[in-house]
Formats: sequence, C-alpha cells, structure tokens
Amino acid sequence: WGKLGHFMVCKITEKYLSENATRAVVDLLPPVAGGELAAVCSWADEVRFRYRWSSPLHYANTPGVCDFTVKRDCHNAKRTQNMCVVGAINNYTAQLRTYGKSSSGYNLTESLMFLAHFMGDIHQPLHVGFLDDEGGNTILVRWYRRKTNLHHVWDVSMIETAMKDFYNTDENIMIESIERNITGNWADDIVDWETCNRKTVTCAPSTYASESIDLSCKYAYKDVEQNSTLTGICSRKKYLLFSIDISIYKRIAQAGLRLATLLNSIFDPSFNSI
Ligand code: ADE
Ligand code: ZN
Ligand code: ZN
Repeated sequence: WGKLGHFMVCKITEKYLSENATRAVVDLLPPVAGGELAAVCSWADEVRFRYRWSSPLHYANTPGVCDFTVKRDCHNAKRTQNMCVVGAINNYTAQLRTYGKSSSGYNLTESLMFLAHFMGDIHQPLHVGFLDDEGGNTILVRWYRRKTNLHHVWDVSMIETAMKDFYNTDENIMIESIERNITGNWADDIVDWETCNRKTVTCAPSTYASESIDLSCKYAYKDVEQNSTLTGICSRKKYLLFSIDISIYKRIAQAGLRLATLLNSIFDPSFNSI
C-alpha cells in the first residue's frame, strides 16, 4: 500500500489493541510517533533503500500461478529462504516476543514498525503477485487519463479515487466507514480475523499470502493487459467499484484487525489462554 493504505490499517489496529498491548506498543514507538502506531506504519518504505536487504520483505511472488507455497515462493533474488513478506512477519513476531526479557538483543522499535508495515503489505493483493510482472509493476495502464502501472493502481490510486469520490477527501470518514463495515456487514467474518491466538490456520501469514494471490488472480489481473485503461464506476468493467467493494476495504480491515490480534497475542498474556 501507499502511505494512506498503511495509515488506515494501523488506525484500525489502534482501536482493537488491548490495554496491555497498547502500553507495550506505546513504550516501543519512537518519539516521532507521538504515541500513535499509525504515524510510523510507512517507516519501512522510507528505509527500503537504506536497508537494501529489506526491499524483498515487502512482497512475495509466484511463478505465474494462483496459489502460494512458502518453500517455492518465499525467498529473495539470491534464493535465501524466508526473505519475503511471510518470512518477515514470522521473524518480527518472534523478535517482539522477547519484549520484556532482559536478553532481547533486538531493536524492538524497528521490529514493531516492520511488523505493522508488512502486515499491511501482505494484505495488498498484488504484493503476492506474479514474478514475471513484479506484482503488476511492469504492467503499464491508464488510471482514468493518467499513465501509471497496475501495482500502483492497487497501492495508491484506487484508495485515493475512492476517498475523493465517495468520502469527500476526508480520510477519517473513510476509516469510519470501514469500521462500520467491521461491526456491520463483516461482523460474521471478524471472528475468523481475530482467531490468530487460537492456533487456527487463519493465524498463519502464509494464509494471508494465499488469500492475496487468489484475489490478484480473480480481480487485480483479471481482464487487464499492457496499456489497458482502467476507470472507476462508469466503466463497463467497473474496475474500481468491483475491486474496491470486494477487495480493498475488506483487505484493509482484515489487515488492521489481524495486526491488532497478533500484537495482543504478543504483548498480552491473557490473550494466549483463549
Ligand atoms: N517487486 C517485485 N515484485 C513485487 C511485488 N509483488 N510487490 C511489490 N514490489 C515488487
Ligand atoms: Zn506496493
Ligand atoms: Zn511496503
């Protein structure tokens, strides 16, 4: 996601953190965050080039197929295993579990900022895309009149267009609308999104990656070719309306809730006994 996508994910997370988890998160946040997780959820993008090793940790790619397998798909260009978004989430989760132990040699402030960012990215469908087109980065398209690429449309353009067209350019109204869906339309689903601590399969990051590649195949790549023009609600294919309704809001809500559940399970002992 772009800055706004990550901000929305973490805003939702903040609302679902337990008291103990909130205390630990605020304790770990850097001073610039001003006590707000959402303020630093794009930090990983800012250090992507300073920490060059971290660049492949934002995504994973498959060899053109619609399913995800850790062994086959989770590695960097040198084929070092686990150097992908799934491995990164597992790694930073494990690091954060050392919080409060005197032996923690990790920079847990960075671990938290990485984890919050990658939990967002793994839910952006095209962050688990095809290797050949780099998750849509090499598929040039027009979004309305503007030239861009398919990956950027999903990271940034659809969210921005929706915010302008439907939410009067007010990100708070958009976030509130997503939250209303969480307690309304998706109320039945959230039980699933909150079961990370119950050792169910939905708690594994590889499941989120499988969901993303499935959505990429069904919606993001569907009917899109080099130089396609994509537009919103007026187009025949209704690319925006369709993708927005089905994928984007729900993926952002899922990412926010699952991150909260994960942080609760890391920092709040009472969550592990459920
Ligand atoms: N670079 C290569 N593949 C990518 C992907 N799926 N998402 C983002 N950046 C990438
Ligand atoms: Zn991206
Ligand atoms: Zn990223």
